Amino acid sequence: MSFSELLMSDSVATLLQNYCHEHAYSEVVVLCDSNTQVHCFPHLQKAYKHIVMPAGEQNKTLREAEKIMDQLMALHCSKQTLLVNLGGGVVTDMGGFVASIYKRGIPFVNVPTTLMGMVDAAIGGKTGVDHAFAKNIIGSIYHPKAVILDLKFLNTMPAVDTLLSFAEIFKIAIIADAQLWQTLVQNPWPSPNSEALKAIVKSAVQNKIQLVEQDPYDASVRQLLNFGHTYGHAYESYVLNQGSSTSHADAVLWGMHQEIALAVHLGILNKDKALIMLNGLNQFDFPSSQWQPDFNALLPFLMADKKNSQHTIGFSLPIDIGQGQIQIQVDVQQLKNCYSLPII
Ligand SMILES: NC(=O)c1ccc[n+]([C@@H]2O[C@H](COP(=O)([O-])OP(=O)(O)OC[C@H]3O[C@@H](n4cnc5c(N)ncnc54)[C@H](O)[C@@H]3O)[C@@H](O)[C@H]2O)c1
Repeated sequence: MSFSELLMSDSVATLLQNYCHEHAYSEVVVLCDSNTQVHCFPHLQKAYKHIVMPAGEQNKTLREAEKIMDQLMALHCSKQTLLVNLGGGVVTDMGGFVASIYKRGIPFVNVPTTLMGMVDAAIGGKTGVDHAFAKNIIGSIYHPKAVILDLKFLNTMPAVDTLLSFAEIFKIAIIADAQLWQTLVQNPWPSPNSEALKAIVKSAVQNKIQLVEQDPYDASVRQLLNFGHTYGHAYESYVLNQGSSTSHADAVLWGMHQEIALAVHLGILNKDKALIMLNGLNQFDFPSSQWQPDFNALLPFLMADKKNSQHTIGFSLPIDIGQGQIQIQVDVQQLKNCYSLPII
């Protein structure tokens, strides 16, 4: 079963115009944020009506969702209006969520403009906004009609953000695709316009689509994609709650380090394989995370995770390179004992 059409090209403007023409939507409205309005909207080469939300994770809120819906109302958008989400994961999560509830659902297309958006956020139908105490806790599963990928958008991204987004590509390689792992470690940090990056993005996207199609409602294999995210989301919520911010990718990287070590301590991942994983990650020279929260400070955010029960927390962990296991429930005390223990 295919949920969304995947279109990849070097000419996003033509693709989008053809797509809208073929599907005869009554109207097209583009949602951007304050950065993609400047750097990406001009690439669409057409004066589409557009709505601009303030950039940044701190604006992925119900309040902003309501403001966007106010503007959709003011523009008299109907159920035949196509919403085009032009941005990173914040815009595609927000726009998808708004599309899922405005008039009980309008069609939408994602045009991701960050590497994180291209390989992960724009695909798979998870939409939503954050609550002050937990990331992505308010949302829906609602699929875009199409996802349009054009790597040229990466040219205006800060290099460090694109580098960090490789975290999600590593995630999928470690948990589901040994071949992608090999490609990654043989091409450390490919440049935005390279064929190597195109191939890596394609492969990461195909992996995600395959998992989503097998398990659209996240009841089984799709949960592999949660590797790095149980700790990662808790870290992200912790930092937001401190009144500061971090990128999702940075949080996932931190989470993957914690969860690789956890898998070793639980005896489900061989220590040598874990070291190969950590060395592969090191090859990319990711900036190191600024925060190292105390376990007790992190615990309330871990407990807010959607995958836990009363005394245990659910993880998806690697058991080999390219292979993972889902629904591993770990007792809070055991987790505390393993937290930040070195794996050697
Ligand atoms: N729904 C999912 O399955 C899923 C998966 C992964 C991540 N996410 C979500 O994605 C979000 C993170 O996404 P992100 O890393 O793309 O962050 P982001 O959307 O905040 O974008 C990062 C920054 O880059 C700017 N930007 C975007 N495209 C640009 C461009 N081409 N040129 C210049 N500036 C540009 C943005 O305005 C923002 O300031 C998080 O909220 C995370 O929860 C969702």
